[in-house]
Amino acid sequence: TEPLRVAIAGLGTVGAGVIKLLDANGALIARRAGRKIEIVAVSARDRAKDRGVDITRFDWVDDTGGLARHERADVVVELIGGSDGPALTLARETLKQGRHFVTANKAMIAHHGLELARAAETTNAALKFEAAVAGGIPVIKGLREGAAANEIGRVYGVLNGTCNFILSKMESEGRDFGDVLAEAQALGYAEADPGFDIDGVDAAHKLAILASLAFGTRPAFDQVAITGIREVIAADIAEAASLGYRLRLVGVAEANGTGLFQRVHPHLVPLDHPLAHVAGSLNAVVAEGNFVGRLFFEGAGAGDGPTASAVVADLIDIARGEFGPAFAMPADALAAEAGADTGDR
Ligand code: NDP
Ligand code: HSE
Repeated sequence: TEPLRVAIAGLGTVGAGVIKLLDANGALIARRAGRKIEIVAVSARDRAKDRGVDITRFDWVDDTGGLARHERADVVVELIGGSDGPALTLARETLKQGRHFVTANKAMIAHHGLELARAAETTNAALKFEAAVAGGIPVIKGLREGAAANEIGRVYGVLNGTCNFILSKMESEGRDFGDVLAEAQALGYAEADPGFDIDGVDAAHKLAILASLAFGTRPAFDQVAITGIREVIAADIAEAASLGYRLRLVGVAEANGTGLFQRVHPHLVPLDHPLAHVAGSLNAVVAEGNFVGRLFFEGAGAGDGPTASAVVADLIDIARGEFGPAFAMPADALAAEAGADTGDR
């Protein structure tokens, strides 16, 4: 059987993590996927940078957009980031070519998910983004497939590892906000611009994607009300603790009969609620379905290994030929649900 040939754009925390994972578990993955997953080409800004992995065995492509037309690539994996710019150009070009596209880029999916899903369905390519929400937790698959038979009333959770790491360490170790944020950056948890983390925008990107999957709507990032944790001080955390609560940045999406409400805010979570015990860079997602009841997903929300695990899970699905619509239903049906409102946000 032919291998699944992969081109990777972006060789930072996640890109290098994917190479390491395939190096370590390649034989096991080949048995499970029924064929080898082989990296054939890579691209980033700086060819000479030490990435802790040998990239000289792959074709180097200077122009990242050129990966979409690489003669040997069946799949392009985009791990650059940013809602527009080179990531979006690469996504559009790859799907237009009828090649599969895998990304960890929640900003791009939250803003342009419907357009890209349409492009993928037009050329029968896969568009997959398991790593975009909650790092290593298979929550996209959980909602899109596992809970597909349910009407979902509410989906909510701790969706940003950097913020949870900051709030946890401020509470348990009495450390300063800035000091813990610097550690989160060094560990590879934070976005290139950590303002996206601490201002709640990254969690809002993820919530918009989860809401889309849970409620069969288009991702609507512009409808998320957002407050981040930038203003949180030690006294807030101490006050919450004295009242029997823990401070967590929580994203909530719920349908209440008149519409879909989406918000990301610091919440006071009672100590007897499972979200209060989601510590460090962990994430958790709760979904309430009318037949399955309450589902609780917890795991590593950021970092190279967990995120690479989700990216490679998408590649295994593609290698097996197991992929359907990117969201809860085909893109045209999703657009129709939105009342012919087809622009991305
Ligand atoms: P990094 O900043 O570590 O890596 C980004 C990579 O993209 C670098 O290799 C960089 O090149 C390359 N790059 C940046 N700009 C360009 C450009 N204009 N053209 C070509 N290459 C470019 O990011 P992460 O690995 O942390 O994140 C990647 C994606 O994964 C983002 O969308 C992020 O939101 C998402 N994500 C990250 C997680 C994490 O825990 N870090 C978890 C889940 C999702 P060079 O190295 O040469 O500078
Ligand atoms: N910056 C993100 C976080 C990475 O801290 O959760 C994972 O999406």
